[in-house]
Amino acid sequence: MDDGKIRTIGIDLSADDAKTIDATGKYVIPGGIDPHTHLDFPFGGTVSSDDFSTGTIAAAVGGTTTIVDFVVQQPGQSLTEALEIWHQKAGGQAAVDYGFHMIIRDLPDSRLPEMDEMVRQGVTSFKMFMAYRGAVMVDDDTIFKAMVRAADNGAMICLHAEHGHMIDVLVQEALAKGDTAPRFHASTRPPITEAEATHRAIRMAEVAGAPVYFVHLSCTEALEEVQAARSRRNYVYAETCPHYLTLDNSMYDQEGFEGAKYVLTPPLRDKWHQEELWQGLRRNDLQVVSTDHCAFRFSDQKTLGVNDFSKIPNGGPGIENRLSLIYTNGVVSGLMDMNRLVEVFATTPAKLFGLFPRKGTIAVESDADIVVFDPDAETVISAQTHHMNIDYNLYEGMTVKGVPEAVIANGRVLVEGGKYTGISAGGRFLKRSPQ
Ligand code: URP
Ligand code: ZN
Ligand code: ZN
Repeated sequence: MDDGKIRTIGIDLSADDAKTIDATGKYVIPGGIDPHTHLDFPFGGTVSSDDFSTGTIAAAVGGTTTIVDFVVQQPGQSLTEALEIWHQKAGGQAAVDYGFHMIIRDLPDSRLPEMDEMVRQGVTSFKMFMAYRGAVMVDDDTIFKAMVRAADNGAMICLHAEHGHMIDVLVQEALAKGDTAPRFHASTRPPITEAEATHRAIRMAEVAGAPVYFVHLSCTEALEEVQAARSRRNYVYAETCPHYLTLDNSMYDQEGFEGAKYVLTPPLRDKWHQEELWQGLRRNDLQVVSTDHCAFRFSDQKTLGVNDFSKIPNGGPGIENRLSLIYTNGVVSGLMDMNRLVEVFATTPAKLFGLFPRKGTIAVESDADIVVFDPDAETVISAQTHHMNIDYNLYEGMTVKGVPEAVIANGRVLVEGGKYTGISAGGRFLKRSPQ
C-alpha cells in the first residue's frame, strides 16, 4: 500500500521502508462499508450521542472503514443547505471515509431539480420515511415523485417502510389504555405494518421504474414482499441489521425501564424471524447487513419517554459490533460462509451505493482499506470497553468470536493488536456514483 491505495498484490513482496503486519492465520478482508448510520443526528427531540469523531473511531475498531450517514432536510430547507450542515458536522472529524444519503422531508415540484444537483455532488441516494407521522413521515405522492426523478437521474431510493397511519392509531389506543411501558413500542408496530409499506413502496417503484432499497428490514412478512418482488424485477434490494439477526422481543420484558434500550424501529421481533432473515441473506433476498447505528444514552436520553413509550428516542448503538456479530452468529454457526460475509459487510454495499471498486474490495488501485481479522480471538461485548459514546450496549455480556486485529483505512493503521492506535480525523467525503 502506498499513498492510501493498494499498489501491488503478491507473495513475498519486498518494499523498502514499509511497515509489515503479520497476518499469518488471519483473514485479510476489505474494510467494511456500513451504509446506515446516524451520527450527530437530530431525532426524537434530542441528538444521537455519537458524533462523527466518536462514531467513526468505534466503526474503525469494529472493522468498518467507510460509512454512509444520513443528512436530514428540514421542512422548507433546500437540499443544498441541508447537505452543507452535514459537511460542517463531519469535515475534519471523521476517522474513516464517509458518504451521505439525503433524507427528504419536503419535496414541492420546484425542488425536484435539487435531487439532480445532489447526484452531481455525489449524494446519490435519498431516504424517505413512511412512518413517524407528524415528524419525518412523507406522503405517497412525495415518495412516488422522488422515485420518478430517481429513475431519471440514477439515484437509489431508500425507504423506512412502516405504515405510519396504522401505527399512529395503535399508539394512541395503547396510551389511552395506560399502556405506556417500553414493551408497547413493539406491540403497536406489528410485522404487517412493515410488510404493507414494503409492498406499497415496491409497487410504486415498479411504476416509476426506480431502484428501491429497504433499510432495516426486520421480519419475515416484509422479507416475503421483497422476495416476491425480486422474482419479478431485480432492482429491489434490502438490508437487515445485527439486532434483528441476534436479538428478539423478549428484551422488552425486562424489569422497569430497561426495555427502552431496545426501543428502535422497526422493533425487535419474535425469535423465529431470525432464522428467516439468515435464510434471506443466504438466498440473496437480503443483500446487506448494516447497523442503523443511532445511539441515545439510557441515562438521560431514553428517559424522555419514561412515562410514554412513544417519546423514547428510537434507535440503538451497533457501529462497532457488526463484523464480530455476523462472524459469530453467521459464519461460526454455519449459516453463511466467509465469502458471503464479505459480500454483505463490504462488497455489496459498495456496489449498491456507488463506491465500487474504490471501496469494498482488495484490488490494485482500490483504496487501502483492509481488516486483518483474527477468527480465533474471543471477546465479551461490553459498554465498559466499547468505543461508542453511549452508556449501554445492546449486546452486553455476549461472547463473540473473531476480532479485527488490524484495521487500515486509506493506508493509515487505525487499529493494531486489536487496539485503537489514536489516529482520529483524516476521513474524507466520498462523492458516490449514480446507478
Ligand atoms: O429506530 C431507529 N431505527 N432510529 C433511527 C432512524 C431510523 O428510522 O432509521
Ligand atoms: Zn428508519
Ligand atoms: Zn436508521
